[in-house]
Amino acid sequence: MVEKMMKRTDYCGDLRLKDDGREVVLCGWVMRTRDHGGLIFIDLRDRQGLVQVVFDPQGDAESFALAEQVRSEYVLNVKGRVRPRPEDTANENLATGEVEVVGSKLIILNRAKTPPFYIEDDVNVDELLRLRYRYLDLRRPVMQDAIKLRHKTAMAMRRFLDEAGFYEIETPMLGKSSPEGARDYLVPSRVHPGEFYALPQSPQLFKQMLMVAGMDKYFQIARCFRDEDLRADRQPEFTQLDMEMSFVEEEDVRRLCEDMLAYVFRHAMGREIPTPFPTISYAEAMSRFGSDKPDLRFGMELIDIADIAAESDFTTFASVAKKGGWVRGINAKGCAGYSRRDMDALKDFVGVYGARGLAYIMVREGELHSPITKFFTEDQTQRLLQRMGAEPGDLLMFVAADWRVAAESLGHLRQEIAKREGLIDDNELNFLWVTDFPMFEYDAGEGRWTAMHHPFTMPKDEDLPVLMEKPGEVRAKAYDCVLNGVELGGGSIRIHRRDVQEKIFALLNISEEESKDKFGYLLDAFEYGAPPHGGVAFGLDRMIMLMGHKDSIRDVIAFPKTQSAACLMTQAPSSVTIQQLRELHIRPSMPQKKNAGEADGNKE
Ligand code: AMO
Repeated sequence: MVEKMMKRTDYCGDLRLKDDGREVVLCGWVMRTRDHGGLIFIDLRDRQGLVQVVFDPQGDAESFALAEQVRSEYVLNVKGRVRPRPEDTANENLATGEVEVVGSKLIILNRAKTPPFYIEDDVNVDELLRLRYRYLDLRRPVMQDAIKLRHKTAMAMRRFLDEAGFYEIETPMLGKSSPEGARDYLVPSRVHPGEFYALPQSPQLFKQMLMVAGMDKYFQIARCFRDEDLRADRQPEFTQLDMEMSFVEEEDVRRLCEDMLAYVFRHAMGREIPTPFPTISYAEAMSRFGSDKPDLRFGMELIDIADIAAESDFTTFASVAKKGGWVRGINAKGCAGYSRRDMDALKDFVGVYGARGLAYIMVREGELHSPITKFFTEDQTQRLLQRMGAEPGDLLMFVAADWRVAAESLGHLRQEIAKREGLIDDNELNFLWVTDFPMFEYDAGEGRWTAMHHPFTMPKDEDLPVLMEKPGEVRAKAYDCVLNGVELGGGSIRIHRRDVQEKIFALLNISEEESKDKFGYLLDAFEYGAPPHGGVAFGLDRMIMLMGHKDSIRDVIAFPKTQSAACLMTQAPSSVTIQQLRELHIRPSMPQKKNAGEADGNKE
């Protein structure tokens, strides 16, 4: 006979001393059981936490017999009475640690096989195994907390934006392919042989259409798809808080975002963040920190020594300086004791970003230890030390290269040293805006200009006159929001006039024909009363990752993909039948099927 489930009165994790004496009914999963002097202790877990349940042989005999059969991850339905734990058995590490439930009735709702890993926070399990059994991984309290934080964050965003007059509007998933940044994910059409939809890389053009449509303020918690190389903070499908507003300028968008973020951080995690955020131009960020998303939780700024280098006999430096390249350095305070091996490793580290070498001076009490000081006069050396703010114990490191390589190398080196030396306060939330981005970047490989943000961004008014002659000097009305050295969001004021948009397309080497084919509807819409508008998109996954102190966005997404864009739980992507392909007018010429996840080293 199947017993009827008793109706739950409480979550396990919610019980406290104030519930002393109450009869409760709980539902949950068995974390572990212990048999102590004839008593059976069961730690029962649900979404809210776990509580200890005790079964006594003197109580209901049938329930006691069942309690003896219980194993990890069985699903139980328990009735019992809450009581304080005996004085010396309270567990102060547990929210429910002052109470226990004396079980009077037990129903086993379902049994479970032995799970492939312990469902506990601190167990060290291979991530591929966790992803394969994601439904078990998600039972771990840390994962439950991350998903809860994500929910609370999304709800706070919705509340704030509703209050601020935004409409939540869905835009299509099946769209038109117009690859700009990343590669598109394509979906073949059955009814239009040989034609494809693309999944959206972002709702960019639809949200602009909504502004032309007079919606005034739009937002969407939007799924975006980008077929690009994956990293810890990138997924092939990810979520943006996407926003757009009409009749606004850069400042309006930034102020609204600050208010929204302050509200969200207050309501989702109880943190106050000071507003307005500091603003730094792209040029200044690159110059001082070697990054367009600088982490300002520590100093260690890049210092320009090109003038001194140019005078020296160190030809490697002098020639770069004379050609107008960068010769800059950072002062790693207290690192003069780094070993030869450390220095070799750091040289390799900057090599990844293109630096050919890493020159250094170790400032020790009464002496300098360095392979380069012999090329500098006493006076040059003194000026160098002074410029670098050097004190005994410091390690000065220098890179000479074209500005981009030097900036990237030193920017990453700065971050690496701060990590190694523990200079970063993990608890700090350091927000800033980076503004005045260049409108275009020159792609030497392709021999053409590309848009740094996207081609729909408005150039700065004062730079419009030189748009065609000096594209490299044109700055955009674009802004990025940076949190602790991570690009949290980005946006811009958009072009809303056809003639300006056409000029930008022309500059980007997009022919008239191509621009009509890809963006004709946008150009047309601009001729029917497009309002000035602008917006922004925040990476929701990245935001939760930073709020929850996680190293990877995979830890804040319920069902993420692996490094090779596979879902190990469902084994997607997978092959499909010939019949399905035929319907889609696709002739198979595929390589031999590999199981999803094999490329990630999942040999199961
Ligand atoms: P952008 O491409 O800068 O702008 O994206 C906005 C934010 O989305 C997040 N993000 C990602 N998160 C996880 N995985 C990825 N692969 C990934 N790519 C981007 C980042 C980023 O800051 N339409 C414009 C926004 C606008 O102009 O309004 C856009 O998509 O946090």
